[in-house]
Amino acid sequence: MTIWQKKNKILITCPKGVSPYLKAEIAALGFPVTAETATAIQTQGTLADTMVLNLHLRTAQRVLYHLETRQAGTPGELYGRINSLPWEDIIHDSGRAGYVCVTSTVDSSLINDTRFVNMKVKDAIVDRIRDKMGQRPDSGPEKDKSVVHVYWKNDSVEVYLDTSGERLARRGYRKIPLQAPMQETLAAAVILATGWNGEGAFVNPMCGSGTLAIEAALLALNRAPGLLRSNYGFMYIKGFPDELWQEMRKKTRATADKKKPLKIIATDINRTAVLAARQNAQTAGVDHLIEFNVCSYERTALPAGGGVVVLNPPYGERMGDIRKLESLYSGIGDYFKKSGGGYRGCIFTGNLDLAKKVGLRSQRRIIFYNSEIECRLLTYELYAGSRKTTTLQTVTCL
Ligand SMILES: C[S@@+](CC[C@H](N)C(=O)[O-])C[C@H]1O[C@@H](n2cnc3c(N)ncnc32)[C@H](O)[C@@H]1O
Repeated sequence: MTIWQKKNKILITCPKGVSPYLKAEIAALGFPVTAETATAIQTQGTLADTMVLNLHLRTAQRVLYHLETRQAGTPGELYGRINSLPWEDIIHDSGRAGYVCVTSTVDSSLINDTRFVNMKVKDAIVDRIRDKMGQRPDSGPEKDKSVVHVYWKNDSVEVYLDTSGERLARRGYRKIPLQAPMQETLAAAVILATGWNGEGAFVNPMCGSGTLAIEAALLALNRAPGLLRSNYGFMYIKGFPDELWQEMRKKTRATADKKKPLKIIATDINRTAVLAARQNAQTAGVDHLIEFNVCSYERTALPAGGGVVVLNPPYGERMGDIRKLESLYSGIGDYFKKSGGGYRGCIFTGNLDLAKKVGLRSQRRIIFYNSEIECRLLTYELYAGSRKTTTLQTVTCL
């Protein structure tokens, strides 16, 4: 049996707050959920299964395949235990694929700098490969080839292959960086939390770089986010079944909806943002499914028929000035009241004081984290009776 067929524990990480959505995704793919924490879901499968998980999961950050758990209390023991594993069967010793990056999570009173652990583990791996193969792979911080992750707590070290390499949030479509973009995985979780399922409109004023609208289009079409990426950590593990991977991609591409009617609207007051969002959507292959406009949020028309309107306004941690933001947030409340009848209104923000300025009673307050910032997705059921203005002018300036 090769390493590709061996069933083992698989740990799938996610941003804090996202695990319920990740858990549902994993279960929907037919994998068992064997444990869960706030930032990871554990399942079981082969290394070949990690290809499926990397390809399909929208809310995952990394898919970590468990190799071994060993006892190690000191850095010397860590070196010895890692060095005893058969790395020559796993990592290429030379050529383009001959490169290894080590990452770690350490919970030990002996260690205050994970870089020391990374170096110890890297030395143990490359020394082993040089001893067995006569040459050793390069090493460094780049995560675009093989990546080994160790989790060292007390006397126990868990060794994983990071089959994602670069984190899965990096779908590859966001080519133009803007201020305060939302991570793609977080955006996918936020859309799932809004309850939007492709029925009705998805309207995203304040779209910034377009992440929410793009993820909404991918989700509604059942288009696997992993199809957008061509590089994963698993490709650099010895014996990588390239043919199986190509076949898997082909089948997955064929199951996406090609022509599902969708109403997705993305607007922003900033013309540069809208240009970037359109460009990003084009890279993701969904620009033809999204109506882009340059306009202020309150001039974004909500089409008849209902749906979801989601705003991620600036919240003062990274952009904007608090006083101006207070009137922006109370304006969003007015916009919802005047124009949102029949819609579920949603606001994603990291500033709860600002959220109070909306002045509407939220139905749900779902906790998420944007990096270290604790955020809320606030949802409001907006009833048709409160809709005073049904026709707002849409500004189409592009
Ligand atoms: C936090 S960013 C949104 C980031 C976005 N979710 C993304 O992933 O890139 C907030 C956006 O609100 C826009 N904005 C600020 N005031 C606005 C207004 N009055 N009307 C419309 N958009 C506005 C900004 O131009 C900015 O792009």
